[in-house]
Amino acid sequence: MELLERLTIIPDRAQQVVVLTGAGISAESGVPIFRGTGSMWEDPLARRLAARAGPPWNTKATWEFYEWRRALVARCEPNTAHRTLVAMESYFTNFCLITQNVDGLHRRAGSKNLLELHGNMWQGRCPSDGALVDLPDTPLSSLPPYHSCGTALRPHVVQFGEPIDPTILSESLKASMRADLFFVIGTSGVVAPARDLPLLALNKGAKVIEINREETVLTPHVTVSIRGKAAEILPRLWNELLEKAGVRDAPKPY
Ligand code: APR
Repeated sequence: MELLERLTIIPDRAQQVVVLTGAGISAESGVPIFRGTGSMWEDPLARRLAARAGPPWNTKATWEFYEWRRALVARCEPNTAHRTLVAMESYFTNFCLITQNVDGLHRRAGSKNLLELHGNMWQGRCPSDGALVDLPDTPLSSLPPYHSCGTALRPHVVQFGEPIDPTILSESLKASMRADLFFVIGTSGVVAPARDLPLLALNKGAKVIEINREETVLTPHVTVSIRGKAAEILPRLWNELLEKAGVRDAPKPY
């Protein structure tokens, strides 16, 4: 109960629970993060491929970078943190998972009520008509892949400076404002608008629990910040919450 002693939370099924994840939740699956130790940019090949990728984003060079990332993620599996979030979703009546990750691991783990703020690298988007196309296989047979309308697809990934899909953003804002409990897991909290969501929840009265292996810019603001790896801390915390609530029938993700 040592984690819970720092939280005065009873996991009531009726609570509105929102989770925001970042690259750190996939770190133990083997997907590199973006900033700091273990970042993707430590790999010279990633830097070389990324330097050639760019607007209009539907070029062969951009897809070469994304094919490298897709191949890397294809070798990874969801970890116990991803799976714990699936268990949490089946427990709470109102559960919303917001992710900045484009790796698709939450979907692969089985999360359903999922808002992918930055898109998903397993989909292409048509720059002409906005159609989304599933591209589950890597390597792709040709680069760039094409939409049936004849236009080259771009990865369905929000690039720096591009707007977030307005529907996804508005659902994320609404969920965050309604939250009773808000978990922020494995994000450095430096990229807007995702970084604003836990602060919004906090201002509306939610308890915000951060799980991160390091301190972040959000740490001084949250209700409680737990230092450690998401795949270790989250299942432990979830078990403790269930025990505290006297729940015996909740699905165990491990
Ligand atoms: N468990 C928990 N946290 C971890 C773990 C782990 N095993 N490993 C790393 N972390 C933490 C790091 O301490 C860091 O705070 O995960 C965070 C990862 O931060 P970033 O690399 O900045 O990733 P993220 O916050 O998701 O970045 C946001 O930036 O480049 C863009 O579009 C990209 O969606 C991404 C956005």
